[in-house]
Order: sequence, then C-alpha cells, then structure tokens
Amino acid sequence: MRHPSDMAEARAAGRPISVVTCYDAWSAKILTASRIDALLVGDSAAMVMHGHDTTIPADLDMMCLHTAAVRRGAPERLLIADMPFLAHRRSLPDTMDAVERLVRAGGQAVKIEGADGNLDTIRHIVESGIDVMGHLGLTPQSLHHLGGYRVQGRNGRAAAKLADDALRLQDAGCFAIVLELVPSELARSVTESLSIPTIGIGAGPHTSGQVLVLQDLLGLQPDFQPKFLRTFLDGFELLRDAVDCFDREVKEGTFPSDEESYR
Ligand code: KIV
Repeated sequence: MRHPSDMAEARAAGRPISVVTCYDAWSAKILTASRIDALLVGDSAAMVMHGHDTTIPADLDMMCLHTAAVRRGAPERLLIADMPFLAHRRSLPDTMDAVERLVRAGGQAVKIEGADGNLDTIRHIVESGIDVMGHLGLTPQSLHHLGGYRVQGRNGRAAAKLADDALRLQDAGCFAIVLELVPSELARSVTESLSIPTIGIGAGPHTSGQVLVLQDLLGLQPDFQPKFLRTFLDGFELLRDAVDCFDREVKEGTFPSDEESYR
C-alpha cells in the first residue's frame, strides 16, 4: 500500500490488511521487499528498541528519529507514526507541531490512542490534510489507568462504550482504527458497524486486518508470549546461533580465511 486510502479500498474489496511495526532502516528494507501492506512506527519502540517496560518513555524526538529511519529504508510503503504519550493532549498548537514533525520525518498518517477528549483534535488534524488512525481497546499510554495489560470491553458497559467510541472516531474522520486486546465477538460487531477498516492485535480474526510487532512475530522476544501472538520464526535462536558461529570461527582461527583477507 502507498496511501492511507488504500486501506479503505482493501476493506471494500474484502482483502485482509497486514501491518507490522517497524523502527529502523534495515528492517524497513526487509519489509519493503515483503508484501506487508503498511508499516507502523509504534511507540512500542520504547519497549522493543530501548528496553523500557512501557511505551510511556517514547517522546516526540524518539518517534521522529525512528520514523525518519523507517522512511529512509522504505521510501514508498504506507507509513503510520504513533503520536507519543500526551503529545496531543497539551494544546492544539503543540499537537500540530508534533504532527508536523512526524509528517516531516516521513509519516503519512498519525495514530492517536483513545477517543475521549481527542475528537476535536482528530477533526482538526484531518481537516489539515493529515490522516489519523484511531486506537481503542487496550491503549498502552493509559496503562496505569486501565490497571495493566488486560483484555478490554469484556463487560456490557465497556463493550458498548468501545463500540460507541469507534463510531465517534469514524465520525471525527479516522481512516482506520486499531483494536487492541478485545474479545473477538466485540471486534467483529465493531468492524461490522463501521465503514472504515479495523486493524486488530489480540482482537481475533474478524477485523479488517491484523498488526503485530515485527520482533514478536519473528520470535525475537521469547519472554513475551501472549495468547494472541503467533511467531513465524525462531529468530532469537537463529540470530544467537549465527553470532555463536562467528565467535567459534574467530576463536578456532578459521575466520577470516585467505579469501577474506587483502594482499
Ligand atoms: O505501538 C505499537 O506498536 C502499537 C501497535 C501494537 C498497534 O500501537
């Protein structure tokens, strides 16, 4: 995909949408060579790339640095950048500065967590010509308020609120909505109630598409194994074994060989 509007086309055609997170240029090059539809520079960069326990330490500088690196590695793939913790909650000028920096860094759209208090801001960003992706369910920037990483919308009231929030985000102009950690039946009914695509993570099979963190799907984070995750590679073992191979050959004196040396 090249543009946010391509997601609407995919949904209309009934084509499932694949999204993965990406934080750096070399992974972006691999993803450019793949068939993945879109890249998300998530604020999960704070956890995956910087070793923090939550996404809260991600700030605008961090997000712009990663967005620019991904854009250099993937000049033509649809790229969505996360608005980091509170970046859209101070004032409209601050919000627009943040959006401007993310777009100048290479983002074609921004993602904003939650609906309450964000609708006018989202409308303003969209009316300024920048596409916005919503994010409901588990919104990790509100982790402390939500009481931890847990499935959202499990009781009737919470489910009705999430369904209503999705409609309000659509009405505010969002081009797509991430649904994170919500029961599949709720994700299905929300998806059916909307005309824009939903992209699920831990939201079952009935959304318009799926997103995973690249390092999770590659099995590079063996300590993180939530129920919703499928790993498609034993990346951690493969990389460790390759590095151990290098270590062994250095210590055996078999690397570098004559062919690998200059005369
Ligand atoms: O930051 C992130 O990686 C995300 C995805 C999990 C949707 O928001």
